[in-house]
Amino acid sequence: MRPSVSALLLLATLALPSSAVKNEDFRKCKDSAFCRRGRALAQRAKDAAPGAWKSPYTVIDEAVRVLPHTSGITAVLKNELYPGIKFRIEVRVHDDGVVRVRADEVKGLKKRYDEAASWALIREPVLAPQYEVTWVIGAWETTGHYKGREIRVFYKPFRIVLFQDGREDIVLNGEGLFNMEHFREKTPPADKTEEEAPAPEEAADQKVIEEPKKPVKATAWFEGEEEDGYWEETFKSWTDSKPKGPESISMDVAFPGHQHVYGIPQHAAPLSLPATTGPDSFFDDPYRLWNLDVFEHEASSTMSLYGSIPLMHAHSDKSTVGIFNAVASETWIDVSHPKPDSTLTHWISESGILDVFLLPGPTPEDIFAQYARLTGTPVLPPLWSIAYHQCRWNYISSQDVREVQKAFDDNEMPVDVLWLDIEYSEEHKYFMWKDKTFPDPVEMIEDVAAVGRKMVAIVDPHLKRDHTYPAYKEAMDLDILVKSSNNNNYEGWCWPGSSAWVDFFNPAAWTWWQGLFSLKDKEGVKWRWEKSSKNLFIWNDMNEPSVFNGPEITMQKDNVHYGGWEHRDVHNINGMLYANQTARALLAREEIPKRPFVLSRSFFAGSQRHGAIWTGDNMGTWEHMAVGLQMALADGIAGMTFSGADVGGFFGNPGSEMLTRWYQLGVFFPFFRAHAHIDTKRREPYLLEEPYKSIVRDLLRLRYSLLPVWYTAFRETSVTGMPLLRPQYVMFPKDYKGFAIDGQFYVGSSGLLVKPITQEGVTETDVWLAEDEVYYDYFTYKTYQGAKGGKSVTLPTPIEKFPVLIRGGSILPTRQRPRRSSTLMKQDPFTITIALDSSGTASGQLYLDDGDSFSHEKGELVWREFQAAVLGKRKKKGSLQIMSIDLASAKPDQAVDGTSLSELYTPANAFAQSIKDVKVEKIKVLGLLKEPKEVYLHNNTHDPIQLAWEWDNASSLLTVKNPSTKIVEDWTITVKWV
Ligand code: GLC
Repeated sequence: MRPSVSALLLLATLALPSSAVKNEDFRKCKDSAFCRRGRALAQRAKDAAPGAWKSPYTVIDEAVRVLPHTSGITAVLKNELYPGIKFRIEVRVHDDGVVRVRADEVKGLKKRYDEAASWALIREPVLAPQYEVTWVIGAWETTGHYKGREIRVFYKPFRIVLFQDGREDIVLNGEGLFNMEHFREKTPPADKTEEEAPAPEEAADQKVIEEPKKPVKATAWFEGEEEDGYWEETFKSWTDSKPKGPESISMDVAFPGHQHVYGIPQHAAPLSLPATTGPDSFFDDPYRLWNLDVFEHEASSTMSLYGSIPLMHAHSDKSTVGIFNAVASETWIDVSHPKPDSTLTHWISESGILDVFLLPGPTPEDIFAQYARLTGTPVLPPLWSIAYHQCRWNYISSQDVREVQKAFDDNEMPVDVLWLDIEYSEEHKYFMWKDKTFPDPVEMIEDVAAVGRKMVAIVDPHLKRDHTYPAYKEAMDLDILVKSSNNNNYEGWCWPGSSAWVDFFNPAAWTWWQGLFSLKDKEGVKWRWEKSSKNLFIWNDMNEPSVFNGPEITMQKDNVHYGGWEHRDVHNINGMLYANQTARALLAREEIPKRPFVLSRSFFAGSQRHGAIWTGDNMGTWEHMAVGLQMALADGIAGMTFSGADVGGFFGNPGSEMLTRWYQLGVFFPFFRAHAHIDTKRREPYLLEEPYKSIVRDLLRLRYSLLPVWYTAFRETSVTGMPLLRPQYVMFPKDYKGFAIDGQFYVGSSGLLVKPITQEGVTETDVWLAEDEVYYDYFTYKTYQGAKGGKSVTLPTPIEKFPVLIRGGSILPTRQRPRRSSTLMKQDPFTITIALDSSGTASGQLYLDDGDSFSHEKGELVWREFQAAVLGKRKKKGSLQIMSIDLASAKPDQAVDGTSLSELYTPANAFAQSIKDVKVEKIKVLGLLKEPKEVYLHNNTHDPIQLAWEWDNASSLLTVKNPSTKIVEDWTITVKWV
């Protein structure tokens, strides 16, 4: 008998724990054999007599070779404990100074996974030109000199050091923890304690075990005595068969002189990563990277969550450097501070080759460019997708969707996107609508689209194992499903009950998957989503993948993917590949492609190229609100800047104060979506009581009015890789007092400084101003003066307020007319707010295009800069000149990939024409010291025109109303005060 839908739902719900995280379901380092081995190695090193611990890895000096193109060298590395085993190591210098270090076993018994980088990288990196790198091969080390830097490869013991300005910036294997376990034959049990290799002299001296009771391996001082979990491992009821045996990599990476490290998302942890080991450790388990669906995760933990980006920044007031470790297997990272001003990290990965990129910086901008040149810049998303999204598990019928839309309109609250969670689908067979509750899906989507809105529906990666479900049947027939270790199609449990998973590593799956989203019959496409629409976009959830009855709620590591690779090798890439293929499917949907939108829960290095992510199933608590911001900051510095947390918290029923504060935070998340669990009470913003309802309405309108600022920031990140939310260390890399601050941030280069309130009952808060500059309250125009060396200022924060400051020197273009959706704002006029800095100047940018096609790539865009400067004296005789100039024509810069941003641009392009009548309706100037006497406009078409203005003495605000200027035109306004 077929189980009923509700029974399945119940079963699925029962498969989940019912309250806070079950820590025991998830491994700690001690539960993962290779991590245990890695940490034990570090412990033995620590316990060794001072100076006694020496890495057994050495470079064979006579085998060092300069590569034919001279930008790199190869060398042979050996582990003196296993003289027969060799590793080929390659060190290459890229044209931007990044150094790539790769190592793989030579003629190993098996093959290590070597494709992680090929999924993460956009292309094979460009190597430094021949003349830029010179190598000196010496008797003890080989040194590469390039651009004033040095990369030194020391032979005995093996160590790699990146020097800049004569300073050691990054050191690999300085502590001797490097260990690349070689492939080996399984030793019969009886031989296990036999000596495996002659011990080198120095190694034998350092045995830490005294008077062994049984024969001790010669390698024990380094590897330990036991073959701990080499060939099989059991966690709870799951046994991992480990057919390839041990192949883990342990590697210490030190950042001498850098006190702070950031990145390696995703963890619910502070931005400046606290130590996990050593006397000052805050956490006791290493940061873990192994994409997992952690139910009700904690707000402060090193546990793995849904995504993994093995990118770390190390920062001091002298430089920012970084490391990108292109590894997709389970990875644990210990952080410690051997000296107060330095950081030591220890990376332990289960499988794969060594493939590490040293990013030399030395500024934060350089690091972002270097990482973006490797893995790509974030996508420029459709404009509507950076507006407000309303989601819930679940809007239960098409009627419900229409009512929610109507309630937003009745309450004059803008919204761009309404979302459908899993209950739209028949028995959780995605693509198939539940006819009873969604009888008219296409009409429903078109009703929502009538005012420029969109819908998003969820499509999860598990396929219900039901032969009448075409998606499953076809995937089975095509033989593109993930296999178990016994080579049968893998079966696991997820929302639909018994499920199978498409293997997205198999190229045969790609065209097939894209076909499922096609709107029209296409050649070669057997089955398509008939009841869909070009206004429907996709949410890819559960793509870690989440498997309710699998180890740690995911797949067995010995499952097998395309090419014979084990799941352990590729796990962290899985979610990215899935979302990537969905984005491609949406791209292929229309003849003239529109920008896709795909929200993914899981991610890896490179995911930024495909869409947005969110921080997963958070809780409706203040702690989760605060850590949601920290997580979004960490995502952003690792490229994944289109990110946000579920506004309101996924679990629980937040009270009005908390929900209001959550909206204040959400308004400044790059991805701004409210979402709620199926068991929560309805909490759409129009359901709030007053005064909260009006406060939240104003907040939604704030987001919409700032969309030009956001879109300009999204455009910038899409060409430079700079994050949307910029923490203090990125903005003020020399202000050490700001390096650990993660409760406030700047929005792109706009000059907006925001500090959301993430605690209950807070009536005032401190904001750190790192510079001697004036800041203006965005709402009241009250000024706050910073100071040299930084200064804390206190702002009142009654429930309707939170610090949003404009940095002196900024110009913000906004649109102040409330509309129902962003699409309806296309012809709306602009307000330009000029916040003069202490010297009387300001500048800011505006980027516009049609917001959803690719015509901007053909130069159909508007990109302007506004500049303001006081000429003469600010108090005595003087004037302020405000100009709007065509930045795109000036072609001021290039994208990180070297392409020009506006090569094909002409001022009369079709998009600019389509908004040629859009006016500037107001210009506001903050920071004038005197009321003006005269304001007039010049443009190219007429004589100067006198303009009317208002002056508010209390806030020194000058408002020029209707300045008769167009947003696409060049103009100059002069404000005179004598
Ligand atoms: C997962 C998602 C959540 C979604 C739910 C049902 O828990 O993280 O956002 O609502 O599945 O699809």
